[in-house]
Amino acid sequence: MNTFNPSEPLGTKEIQTLDSAHFIHPFTDHGDLATRGARVITRSEGVYVWDSEGEKLFDAMSGLWCVNVGYGRQALAQAAYDQMMTLPFYNSFFQTTNVPAVKLATKLAALAPKVGDRSFEHVFFSSSGSESNDSNVRMVRRYWDLLGQPQRKVIISRHNAYHGSTMAGASLGGMSGMHAQGDLPIPNITHIGQPYYFEDGKPGETADEFGLRAAGWLEEKILELGADKVAAFIAEPIQGAGGVIIPPATYWPEIQRIVDKYGILLISDEVICAFGRLGHWFAYEKFGYKPDLVTFAKAVTSGYIPLGGVMVGDRVAKVLIEQGGEFNHGYTYSGHPVACAVALANLDIMEQEQLPQRVRGEMGDYFAKRYAELNDHPLVGVAESCGFVAGLVLVKNKQTLERFNPDDAVGMVCRRHCFTNGLIMRAVGDRMIIAPPLTLTHAEIDELLRLIRHALDLTQRELHQKGLI
Ligand SMILES: Cc1ncc(COP(=O)(O)O)c(C=O)c1O
Repeated sequence: MNTFNPSEPLGTKEIQTLDSAHFIHPFTDHGDLATRGARVITRSEGVYVWDSEGEKLFDAMSGLWCVNVGYGRQALAQAAYDQMMTLPFYNSFFQTTNVPAVKLATKLAALAPKVGDRSFEHVFFSSSGSESNDSNVRMVRRYWDLLGQPQRKVIISRHNAYHGSTMAGASLGGMSGMHAQGDLPIPNITHIGQPYYFEDGKPGETADEFGLRAAGWLEEKILELGADKVAAFIAEPIQGAGGVIIPPATYWPEIQRIVDKYGILLISDEVICAFGRLGHWFAYEKFGYKPDLVTFAKAVTSGYIPLGGVMVGDRVAKVLIEQGGEFNHGYTYSGHPVACAVALANLDIMEQEQLPQRVRGEMGDYFAKRYAELNDHPLVGVAESCGFVAGLVLVKNKQTLERFNPDDAVGMVCRRHCFTNGLIMRAVGDRMIIAPPLTLTHAEIDELLRLIRHALDLTQRELHQKGLI
């Protein structure tokens, strides 16, 4: 029998043993986890987290792209406490509503900029990015059914996209490793190439030329399927989990031209890019396109409590509401009062501290300038940033830009050096990526760049010793 008493304090070893005995982690090789033991993160403040051994880490990933206002915000804890004491839960299914959900929907509608004739007056709430993308599939299909075009079923996405981990989310995503497990994608979801210039640009082709060519893959796919079969195109403004792939400037305008030409709905998955990450409340504003649906999650509460949702543009909302009758879809926690109260307090902090303005202003410029200096490192093929997301490619040869063999797992080598030297930076294949809190000061940007450079130096030394460079 399990005689465990949760109120007893535990040492690191005990936690690790219980962890591998009982906790199934997301995206984890448990054999490997059991041998090495998980790092136990116990507390946080500002841009730092600490582990159970007292080691301090600069969290350049904002948790998992979510803690945009940084750790330790009392106002968010207070908002949760106050709401829990007033009304911890009530559903919105049966002609009932709650005040924080109404206020948050109204606030989000006010923050989402109107583009051309399209505005976002309506919000559908969920608890995560994955659920929100499932809702998108339901809404998009319902929309075309109501318009008498039920054959418009196919949603086009991109290879190496990430749209979540539910059946629909993983199918919309273009991660081959995820598709390989569990018969994915589900029917009527297909993928085109990603706009990754460093990898797919042809010799002599400029980034702008490549951007047009990559967007053209969408038109080719539409024509191959037949435009009357295509319901929507879904994409992240910048691919996050795929390795921070920043599209060339020509990409989004050309995508807009194509979706408009064929009347296809455009879904902007802004689970990472919204709420100041690219210097705007919503990322479509940064790139100037006009989505019909916008997926959000993570930073809407800065990750302090789960909440996600979809901004439903007028084009879709009008049909669903005026012609749709009951929409047979929703979650127990759609519009959860505590999550919505925390989101309101979080957006309030972002407004008070002008975090989006900070990222698109002087602080963003300083971050971009300092980050670009990494381009002089012998191991870096290219280092690029946009707002407060950034990625770099590790290369074998800086002159020829020769890549490492994937079996060399260089990203994991670099990630280990980051982790053991006080920095959380994520590895995606041979790309190293960051998405730091939007509150960074000049001194913290300097410290971050010093830590990255140190980890790169240690990685270079290890790869040299192993004869890989
Ligand atoms: C662009 C994008 N969409 C969807 C998701 C899935 O969100 P969640 O993990 O909250 O389900 C993520 C998660 O990282 C994401 O980056």
